[in-house]
Amino acid sequence: MNTNLKAKVILSLLITECILSVSAQQVPKIYYHSKKHVTCRNGVVVSAHPLASRAGIQILKEGGNAIDAAIATQLALAVVYPAAGNLGGGGFMVARLSNGKNITIDFREKAPVAAGRNMYLDEKENVISGKSEDGHLAAGVPGSVAGIFTYYKFARLPFAKLIQPAIDLAEKGFPISAAEANDLNENQEDFKKYNTVMPVFIKDKGWKAGDILIQKDLAGTLKRIRDKGAKGFYEGETARLIVEEMKRGSGLIGYEDLKNYTAKSREPVVFTYKNDFTLITMPLPSSGGVLLPQMMRMVEDRNLKQLGFETVPSVHLMAEAERLAYADRAKYLGDVDYFKVPVKTLISYPYVRERMKKFNMDSAGNSKSTGAGIIPESEETTHFDTYDKYGNCVSITTTLNGGYGCRTVVGGAGFLLNNEMDDFSVKPGVPNMYGAVGGEANVIAPGKRMLSSMTPTIALFNGKPFLILGTPGGTTITTSVFQTLIDIIEFGMSASDAVNKPKFHHQWLPDTLYVEKDFPKQVSIQLQKMGYKIGSKGAIGRTEVIRVFPTGEIEGVADWRGDDDAEGY
Ligand code: GLY
Repeated sequence: MNTNLKAKVILSLLITECILSVSAQQVPKIYYHSKKHVTCRNGVVVSAHPLASRAGIQILKEGGNAIDAAIATQLALAVVYPAAGNLGGGGFMVARLSNGKNITIDFREKAPVAAGRNMYLDEKENVISGKSEDGHLAAGVPGSVAGIFTYYKFARLPFAKLIQPAIDLAEKGFPISAAEANDLNENQEDFKKYNTVMPVFIKDKGWKAGDILIQKDLAGTLKRIRDKGAKGFYEGETARLIVEEMKRGSGLIGYEDLKNYTAKSREPVVFTYKNDFTLITMPLPSSGGVLLPQMMRMVEDRNLKQLGFETVPSVHLMAEAERLAYADRAKYLGDVDYFKVPVKTLISYPYVRERMKKFNMDSAGNSKSTGAGIIPESEETTHFDTYDKYGNCVSITTTLNGGYGCRTVVGGAGFLLNNEMDDFSVKPGVPNMYGAVGGEANVIAPGKRMLSSMTPTIALFNGKPFLILGTPGGTTITTSVFQTLIDIIEFGMSASDAVNKPKFHHQWLPDTLYVEKDFPKQVSIQLQKMGYKIGSKGAIGRTEVIRVFPTGEIEGVADWRGDDDAEGY
């Protein structure tokens, strides 16, 4: 693990704990710190925030199952982690129930009906910088609340009980961490610029660890959802507040967009790796459901175990698999309800083997000469996992896209809107905020879902739950999930090491191999000699993992890169 980062996180946790104790004289008396590792036998919740993980674990203790816990966690994240937890965004859920049924639910945002493919271009058809990222026009129709009610049918406890922790946290407030204070401070100017009603996130003197964040408007929205279900969000008062906000800020989301939004149950992507492992992941509009099987199959017959973790040949092999898969992403992937995507071919063994013929053991590939394969016929996000004593597994990634989404809070309703429209290809060939390019498959159309990288995943070993995992990180999501799986399955790493050791990322374009700052220097130098352009990234992802052992022991690992927290009992 990155020693500097670890030291920094420990210091920040100590400071946070200390400051929170001082502020304990104020209301509310909430103490927390991030637990990075837990082992127990009854249930585990891992998420980006201790108060959200706690909300989930409390529900498990009170007789809920992993689905109940996921709902409580997701709703609590919408309060305690405003940068990414959300009501105004969307996401994907992958679950495996104790009866062996696999479920995937798509609650991705959609383009409003008034959206069109050239909406972010000027009269010369050039992209207007920032238009798909900032403020009202960047927001897609939110899917999170519809998603929660779609998966609620697998829960056990009354909804009012599951939402109460979130209502309490919003209404009474909670002390913010040092990292949250820092993020809020960095976004003050944007909050002022992109809001028509000044939100509670604005603080003239600046935020510091231990300050209490109270969100009364958000509590009101949560209560309407408690009392009226999804209609408490997509119709009535909340819908009115959203549409009024859109009118004040020249956004596009209208009453019909909200009323017609539905989450979709999709056919899970299920594939095997080396016979013993079965992987269950999210299909399109998540690109993960294509890229993960492609990359796993590209390396499956290459004896990675012998090459070893983060050696020159193993990083080279995995980076080239990433390059090839992301070249296909740019050309072929988009919303299957709008564009015919040859998924079966893209993940088939003959196709991936043909693609790997481009792989040269001695030198880096080249993205200019590496296009997508030929098909014959035709940043901020958050992840959490829950597991219960019955064997139910839940893996959910949700997103606002950028940190605090478009930075616009719905006036009177207290929640931030996403800037997910930037995940469309706003102009084919022009990179989005993650530097990813897309083509026709992912152009904007009314009602269409934008392509995502979110890859909530469950791995079975010999048919039994083994790993539940996922991460935020824009286009780095799928490569982080890929590496975490390979680290555990092939390199025999502990879940903690697989989460915390430095990661790398290649996405075809830009033609750069990004490495985290503690990535071994000697390996970078060797890779450079092979022809790679090396770029550095501060942190890649915030991976959360639950590992289930045949003994019945359950391990939860929360990423060191943030406030992430693992709880169990
Ligand atoms: N907004 C990031 C993603 O969906 O991939």
